[in-house]
Amino acid sequence: MKILVTGGAGYIGSHTIIDILENTEHDVVSIDNFSNSDAKTFDRIEEITGKRVKNYELDLTAYSSLKERFFNVEGPIDGIIHFAALKAVGESVEKPVLYYHNNLNGLINLLKCCQKYDVKHFIFSSSCTVYGNAKTQPVTELTPVQPPESPYGYTKLVGENILKDFSATKIGFNALSLRYFNPVGAHPSGKHGELPKGRPNNLVPIVTQFASGWLDELNIFGDDYETRDGTAIRDYIHVSDIANAHVLALEKLAESEHELDYDVYNLGTGDGVTVLEVIKAFEKSTGISVAYTISDRRAGDVECIYANNSKANRQLGWNPKYGIADAMISAWQWQQLLNTKRGDTVHSE
Ligand code: UD1
Repeated sequence: MKILVTGGAGYIGSHTIIDILENTEHDVVSIDNFSNSDAKTFDRIEEITGKRVKNYELDLTAYSSLKERFFNVEGPIDGIIHFAALKAVGESVEKPVLYYHNNLNGLINLLKCCQKYDVKHFIFSSSCTVYGNAKTQPVTELTPVQPPESPYGYTKLVGENILKDFSATKIGFNALSLRYFNPVGAHPSGKHGELPKGRPNNLVPIVTQFASGWLDELNIFGDDYETRDGTAIRDYIHVSDIANAHVLALEKLAESEHELDYDVYNLGTGDGVTVLEVIKAFEKSTGISVAYTISDRRAGDVECIYANNSKANRQLGWNPKYGIADAMISAWQWQQLLNTKRGDTVHSE
């Protein structure tokens, strides 16, 4: 297959490209406008895989340039793995129009191109945020979705619905939405990992940057939840495992011919881990103590969510290979590499 990865320089997109190049014969091409990433990502992908990926620096919300500068130039594409989107929950509350514009118009323009250029298969980055504050844990794909807590969450839920409707039109197009739990870690080589622009929003990069002295504080958002140690529970899944699921998912769509229109899969480990347990796993894996502070709960955070992953296991043949210790070790190796290159690769902080 020839696969278009949108957001190929981003955290999960770049790991997915590495998985495709390391483990399959598929061709891959990327679109990324570097809004939250860096062109040097493609150098690191080349260092790891020995292969150079072509990237088109395009904004998906600009339909005519997407057509003219990508699809008219690249020729037939068999499948799209669509990551390119904004993902900061707090920012989405402050800038809802930006999030709806970017995430929904980007998706719609890609689907218009799927129709025009006969692209048959589509994988969508969704999120466990669609389950909201689910009453029973772990959540399965049958757990009812809830009104999202943020505009970011709405863009994921609406994106899923758009794909479901589009796949039902029987034009030979099929799609899968992958609901990620909390992606963490870095490539097992430690040579490539997450590098958000500005201050990170997610727990693990905050921990590694704090341990390196890049950040002044590490706050734990709330220790009064009804959990075993009072801190919130999430399902931390290694980014390389998430990446591998995309390849399996796309291959499933391609093999299914017209039997499968649309479906959703949870991508989590199945284990719920508290914030304090993440910090302890980091300390144990690296031998570094981190002096955190307990602060108030963060608005919009749910108390507990983790996945039942048996559907992806059964139907995609997907089994997470890595645990939380692997994630901490690789994230820390990557952070140490960044520490040696600081000023060269780091955008701010
Ligand atoms: C959120 C979204 C998820 C999205 C992901 C992408 C929700 C419910 N979840 O995940 O859909 O895909 O962001 O960015 O909207 N924490 C601290 N201190 C920190 C940072 C985080 O204690 O400095 C805690 C949080 O309160 C949370 C856990 O760590 O309990 C994980 O937080 P984070 O990494 O930000 O991810 P989510 O909020 O779970």
